[in-house]
Amino acid sequence: MKICFAASECFPFVKTGGLGDVVGSLPKEISRMKTGGKKKVKNDVKIILPLYKGIKTLQYNIVCMEEFGDIPVAIGDKEIKFRIFTSKLPDTEIDVYFADCPEYFHRDMPYTNDPDEDERFILFQKAVIEILQRLKWAPDVIHCNDWQTGLIPVFLNTIYKWDKLFDNTSVLFSVHNIGYQGRFSEKSVFSAGLSYNDFYNCGPLELNGSFCFMKAGILYSEIISTVSKTYAMEIRTPEYGAGMESVLQIRKDDIYGVLNGIDTNIWNPKIDKFIPANYNAKDTSNKIICKKELLREAELVYDENVPVIGIISRFAGQKGFELLFPVINELMQLPLQLIVLGSGDEKSEKFFEQLAMSFPHKVNTYIGYNNKLAHYITAGSDMFLMPSIYEPCGLNQMYSLNYGTVPIVRNTGGLADTVIDFHKDELNGNGFSFDEQSPAALYTAILRAVEVFGDKNTWEKIMQRGMKIDFSWKHSAKEYMELYKKAVEKKSNNLI
Ligand code: ADP
Ligand code: GLC
Repeated sequence: MKICFAASECFPFVKTGGLGDVVGSLPKEISRMKTGGKKKVKNDVKIILPLYKGIKTLQYNIVCMEEFGDIPVAIGDKEIKFRIFTSKLPDTEIDVYFADCPEYFHRDMPYTNDPDEDERFILFQKAVIEILQRLKWAPDVIHCNDWQTGLIPVFLNTIYKWDKLFDNTSVLFSVHNIGYQGRFSEKSVFSAGLSYNDFYNCGPLELNGSFCFMKAGILYSEIISTVSKTYAMEIRTPEYGAGMESVLQIRKDDIYGVLNGIDTNIWNPKIDKFIPANYNAKDTSNKIICKKELLREAELVYDENVPVIGIISRFAGQKGFELLFPVINELMQLPLQLIVLGSGDEKSEKFFEQLAMSFPHKVNTYIGYNNKLAHYITAGSDMFLMPSIYEPCGLNQMYSLNYGTVPIVRNTGGLADTVIDFHKDELNGNGFSFDEQSPAALYTAILRAVEVFGDKNTWEKIMQRGMKIDFSWKHSAKEYMELYKKAVEKKSNNLI
């Protein structure tokens, strides 16, 4: 099968969160798999991304495909040109293509609040189709990810419908986070070159007066997926649907939840290149070296009886750190240390910075993005905290489980699908979870974890359970293959 991933992030080229990890790893597993009738052949996989300023072209040997020159794309009444660059996904034979449009993508960050944010990704989505045309390569499935790619199935069915190349091309649209919907003013319909007939009178492009790229993706794609089974259910409710629940209801028979996998060549304590000492489930003794080194770097004193709680996160309302604010003094009375790595909303950044200043012997905070430190904290901490209000999948709790770092999470989305609360199920528990979105419930979960930490035998068993789970892509990639087949089938029967 021919599968094209279109996305706004892909590790190691560009990553702001879990989407980057997924797009940098799922294609690898898909490209190792085979499809076809009797003569099984390996899947043919390509990835298309924007060429942001921050992408290191020299390091990754990303070169211009001069033969295609400057390609013009209409954005409203403007003609914007882009060029195609290419490289391989490191350590694979997977071709990656980049849309190079300095005017739009040479900004400080991949995502902006600039007034032309809509145009930046309209260009990208048209570029995906233009690149496929230049390559004369018709995928069986374009696997689109989040709102930045939601218009691709719309374009295939409108502006580019004339092109027979795509007659058999279907779209699988993955929702990684329903909280980010790509909503713009109605003027964007013109910028996209689409028809206002599809916008006015509650048309498929419109949501509460705005042009919503994600809604379009949900309505125009053959199949929709999201990144855990629980989240697939949750987003059809008003509490979690972020206003999109009724749209999802329309497509309820075509929505599937597939839990993300992890790249076990990158996030694996046995071979992790970033951590001070490697270890595995059979012999976890080196984890103490990781803890000692982490504490040394964080300028905190090591004490085998005091657990280190790690936090690695984007700071956003979704992540639930505000639940900590009202109970922080009580928490600081407990025997624990806290090491925080993150950036995002100012309130959380200030809170954690202030906390480190107020409790310098217990807390260390690093505001910013730091991949190596993320590996250090994952390996060196005893516990990992993710009190998310909602969490589509969450990768950090899976990384933590695999590193014997016991997660403390709220029981929602992908966290609910991966973490089993020890006190609810002592035989299988691999972490601690709480249901209620309240500071008291969070406090109690941390307290429970700290108490169980005192019982070294039990703790080792909890760690072991997490380390033995196979979170690799093997299982989930098979589920995606099934969905790709469904998408192809729907397309051939013209079912949407
Ligand atoms: P989300 O995509 O909602 O941010 P995930 O748990 O799916 O949440 O993925 C977050 C990814 O980003 C993980 O790989 C995590 O290690 C990484 N990450 C988040 N914040 C930072 C940071 N400040 N520095 C380094 N890595 C980070
Ligand atoms: C989103 C979600 C996160 C998920 C990631 C990758 O950013 O917030 O839960 O793990 O996408 O799918």
